[in-house]
Amino acid sequence: MDKSGLPIRSADKLLIRSLKGQPAARPPFWLMRQAGRYLPEYREIRKEVPDFLSLCYNPDLAVEVTLQPIRRFGMDAAILFSDILVVPDALGVQVSFAQGEGPVLTPVRTAETLVQLSMDQLHERLSPVYATLSRLREELPPETALIGFAGAPWTLAAYVVEGGGSKDFAAARTLARCQPELFGRLIELLTDAVIAFLDRQVQAGAEVLQLFDSWAGALPPDQLELWAIRPVQRIVAELKARHPDIPVIHFPRGVGLALPEVAARVGADGLSLDTSVPMAEAVRLLPRDLCLQGNLDPVDLVAGGEGMLARLAALAKANRGRPWIFNLGHGVLQQTDPGEVQRLADAVRALHA
Ligand code: CP3
Repeated sequence: MDKSGLPIRSADKLLIRSLKGQPAARPPFWLMRQAGRYLPEYREIRKEVPDFLSLCYNPDLAVEVTLQPIRRFGMDAAILFSDILVVPDALGVQVSFAQGEGPVLTPVRTAETLVQLSMDQLHERLSPVYATLSRLREELPPETALIGFAGAPWTLAAYVVEGGGSKDFAAARTLARCQPELFGRLIELLTDAVIAFLDRQVQAGAEVLQLFDSWAGALPPDQLELWAIRPVQRIVAELKARHPDIPVIHFPRGVGLALPEVAARVGADGLSLDTSVPMAEAVRLLPRDLCLQGNLDPVDLVAGGEGMLARLAALAKANRGRPWIFNLGHGVLQQTDPGEVQRLADAVRALHA
């Protein structure tokens, strides 16, 4: 409800106004990985579950963890608490999170292992995620937008082929280069799954969608079109056809000079910039009606204090008069002091459009 007791429509929420290029009273903000290990109340809940994926698949706990940063800091958007790797998990790839070591997956590198994956149980396995979203729509403050998300096909394929995280995803890049037909089938399956997953997220209550292509920058420039741009373009076009009012944010991390091309071809409403992108240059090179998101370095949030506030002010200055969502250039780091997040949140709220 707003002050007059009327429900706030999605279209009136600050984050959604900015994504639609409409004037907002101040820049909206949220932080990638705003829920997580830097918060003591997250670590408390995390102790209750044997492994990270059971937290993602437990709506009671996932709702609670999503709300934790909103209660403390009042971000303008809550992002569903889940992980990009629930999609491969639901397709039949074995996914686990080893204590303190990141994800471990059974690698898929052959036609024999690829045919074992299927969408047959996708929605059944992901149903706790949809339940979490529906509950969040009921429990979030009325002015807070709810963001659903998925990994982009290339980034998901990178983890699936590699069998986990990697410095350079060499196995995935090699498969893409040497067996494009096989790799293309994996990308297609992941693209279909992401479309089906995000469609259901919207039906369950997501008001904005973000696509994380965290490893787009690992692709050689001549392969970006095939594996990162085209699949995401298909996802965005399909979601726009089904849900024309739902804005989509694209995070093609690490693509650097290709940003204008990626933005033009993908057609998302928002472009999330990583820490390597100088904001003033991005503003100069990208269309004025495209909403930019970012891009304070998570390390600047760890460092905190006046230096952090000065960098926030520079980002705001570069974006004056254009649609912009304040965010980090990547996720909140574990060693972040919640007190500095509070300082940052207060400073963003004091900004004018
Ligand atoms: O607050 C939020 O942003 C929502 C939740 C969220 C998580 N992961 C929770 C999480 C989101 C949006 C993600 C996305 C995600 N997951 C990405 C894309 C964004 C990015 O960081 O580039 C990627 C690449 C992953 C895969 C993933 N999940 C890795 C590599 C790891 C291990 C590294 C780590 O930080 O531990 C995870 C685990 C993970 N995902 C945690 C959280 C809170 C930590 C797990 C724990 O509590 O033990």
